[in-house]
Amino acid sequence: MALWSGRFEEAAAPVTQEFGASLPVDKALYKQDIAGSIAHATMLAAQGIIGQEDADAICEGLKAIEADIDAGTFVFDIADEDIHMAIESELTRRIGAAGGRLHTGRSRNDQVATDTRLAAKALARDLMEANLGLRAALLDAAEEAGDTVLPGMTHLQHAQPVLLSHHLLAYVWMLGRDFTRLSAAFDAADLLPLGAAALAGTTYPLDRRMTAGLLGFAGVIENSLDAVSDRDFLLDLEYACSVMAVHLSRLSEEIVLWSSQEFGFITLSDAYSTGSSIMPQKKNPDFAELIRGKTGRVVGDLVQLLMTCKGLPLAYNKDMQEDKEGALDAAKTLAQCLAVMTGMVGTWTVNADRMRSVMHRGHLAATDVADYLAKHGMPFREAHAVVGHLVLEAEKQGCDISELPFETFKEASDLFGRDITKALDLDAIVAARTTEGGTAPVAVAEQLRRARARYLVDENAVKLLSPVIPMGVPAASAL
Ligand code: ARG
Repeated sequence: MALWSGRFEEAAAPVTQEFGASLPVDKALYKQDIAGSIAHATMLAAQGIIGQEDADAICEGLKAIEADIDAGTFVFDIADEDIHMAIESELTRRIGAAGGRLHTGRSRNDQVATDTRLAAKALARDLMEANLGLRAALLDAAEEAGDTVLPGMTHLQHAQPVLLSHHLLAYVWMLGRDFTRLSAAFDAADLLPLGAAALAGTTYPLDRRMTAGLLGFAGVIENSLDAVSDRDFLLDLEYACSVMAVHLSRLSEEIVLWSSQEFGFITLSDAYSTGSSIMPQKKNPDFAELIRGKTGRVVGDLVQLLMTCKGLPLAYNKDMQEDKEGALDAAKTLAQCLAVMTGMVGTWTVNADRMRSVMHRGHLAATDVADYLAKHGMPFREAHAVVGHLVLEAEKQGCDISELPFETFKEASDLFGRDITKALDLDAIVAARTTEGGTAPVAVAEQLRRARARYLVDENAVKLLSPVIPMGVPAASAL
């Protein structure tokens, strides 16, 4: 018998039961749902809307139900449709009439928005911590890289030499921006919808700020229609997840390339590699590939929710029930990707000699040779053309520009002096890029210092977040 059976003469068509239910997904939010109900009942009693004895019975009953779900002994019934009804009907079975008073001045529309916001906060916080974990691994790898150089690339072609630490720090800054996006998503979720009472507010003297305080929300949503129809906070979370997944996917692509025989720049640890069922020699970067692959799934979750929200009139619509599955999936998938990537980065071996051994290919010094001429008075465009011809000459001779004899340089321009060797020395080339944010060891040391300082700021920001209600992890495989 549905909770709304008073108005109905016929039972629901069986085919609609599973179709209309969100319980298989939203039972993951049981801790948030129970916390929301305890806060609501506590506030109702404080305001004299229900009796203190009823509120006490409700709170005790809810805690007992939570313990049963934790223990995996609670039996969910799809006929209950969603986690809100599953818990409320069980409460009423256990404590009788008092249970029926819990839903005073409240709607499932408010409840689902409350539970989902509480879950979004918990997920965002977990992801912020995981983001810090990967950043720490990359910062350590950057520090350990010391003066290791590798060919910096554009279009996947050798361009100019860079420090490996500089390359790795680029990802640290990307992840820093991801952290900012997660923290914005946390803040977007950090407001209380309860009190909307389906859509318009209620005649009961609710104290919404008290409920917000009890649940650890920073404030209340200002408009009751917005309270039940807003899912921007989930879009923010899924967008933050998507951009971060794209960053992990780019790093994964580099890991796949770098661990190939062609590059040989890194060797993944056995713990983060797989073999082949037929080819005994294989050591594959499956997990980097899988992170790259799972990115499609995370971005897909975002696109799904954007499409679900598009065209919805105010206020709550059942379409919105499609919001949670993708958000939970995106957050869980990304959390796994972050954990695996952190382990992979922390255990790979850098083959610095191999990186250096490919540096004589691709004329990495060409820009600096052109700069040499420009600094000796030749207009840069002209210098570019002169060096272009030197590169062509080297290509014809099958060598690198740095291997051409001095006479060839002298023939190309009178401005070349013996000191051109300095412009051809790859370590000197790197050391000369002292621009703020450049790849010179001195600039990168400063960058590393700032990246670590930024890390500490973000680490502290996690400690200052408003309280969260962690996702439940039931003992049995009931969920
Ligand atoms: N199961 C619903 C959801 O996930 C909860 C709210 C349903 N409200 C309603 N009036 N049908 O969105």
